Amino acid sequence: ADYQLGSYANFMHKEIWEQPESVRRTLLGRLDERFGTARLGGINLDARALRAIRRVKFFGCGSAYYAGQLGANLVEEWARLPADAEPASELRYRNPVVEEDTLYVAISQSGETADTLAAVQELKRKGGQVIGMVNTVGSAIARECGSGTFLHAGPEVSVASTKAYTNMGVCFAMLALALGRVRDLSVSDGARIVAGLDSLPSLIVEVLGAENEISAVAKEHSGAERMFFIGRTRGWPVAREGAQKLKEISYVHAEAYQAGELKHGPLALIEPAMPSVVIVPDDELLAKNIGTIEQIKARGGPVIAVTNADLPDGLADSVIQVPRSEPELDPILFTIPLQVFAYHLAHHLGRDIDKPRNLAKSVTVE
Ligand code: G6P
Repeated sequence: ADYQLGSYANFMHKEIWEQPESVRRTLLGRLDERFGTARLGGINLDARALRAIRRVKFFGCGSAYYAGQLGANLVEEWARLPADAEPASELRYRNPVVEEDTLYVAISQSGETADTLAAVQELKRKGGQVIGMVNTVGSAIARECGSGTFLHAGPEVSVASTKAYTNMGVCFAMLALALGRVRDLSVSDGARIVAGLDSLPSLIVEVLGAENEISAVAKEHSGAERMFFIGRTRGWPVAREGAQKLKEISYVHAEAYQAGELKHGPLALIEPAMPSVVIVPDDELLAKNIGTIEQIKARGGPVIAVTNADLPDGLADSVIQVPRSEPELDPILFTIPLQVFAYHLAHHLGRDIDKPRNLAKSVTVE
């Protein structure tokens, strides 16, 4: 009741703009600059227990599941532990192999999603070690997990998740950092990541400063009935969450695809009426992603590049420029302009942004 709209047109817009503050809040007191690590007090695992973990499995529904993919990538990159993400609705029913040295991470904004809760219960029944990454204190999933990390995003009202998603990414980064630092991640690499996390809020401010430019790009493409979101490795969870945001609030058919898979089917759909949003971080795969843009252009498909590189003039039809951060943190930062893009595209189409048709903020029944 004390969470008010204020001067914002709707909650999604307000929550997008709250992100510098909500990221700051979740980082507060959890970063250790000196030792280049993170301390997540709610996870009762000392260095030995952290070292005993051999695998990490993230699970949740919707955006929480997509965030989990981002988390799994970070765990693999920094801790060199096998990690993946799975929809909770699948995990609960497919009789998973549960191992005692796997860390299971339940992800939920509301803490009340029925499938996620049921997956936690099933894993616990089989002796799995489950922690929660939950936003709502006192929620069913937080209580069922017993230990974990609260996201501290504050209340989220818009059905389309924004600040909770971003804080999931930030909390997974801290978990991956802690897992990495009891293994082979060096103190200097840890310190570099800590500094990168610390500068995220100001980089988000920069992203939001480009709102008018992003809105113009969204308007230009608001006539499209369908869109691809293309990314590879670090860009893949970004593409998926970008497509998710667009489809849920604008009803434009948005589909995410891994860049390398385009040639195995989806290229057949490329034509002037099918724009592609291509995620292009300035990392070791830059040349590959430029090649992807060229493939799409050669078949007459319009391209919107989301990038922190200096792309050659005229390569993409539209460019959404993102500030540079530590490369591993790009997926967290790159998602934010896509929230803004989806928001403005839906706005141009006159959609009911906070309450999209057929969707609920939290799905507490199956
Ligand atoms: C619903 C919402 C999504 C959300 C998902 C999981 O489908 O519309 O925005 O990502 O539930 O919700 P949770 O509260 O568990 O994160």
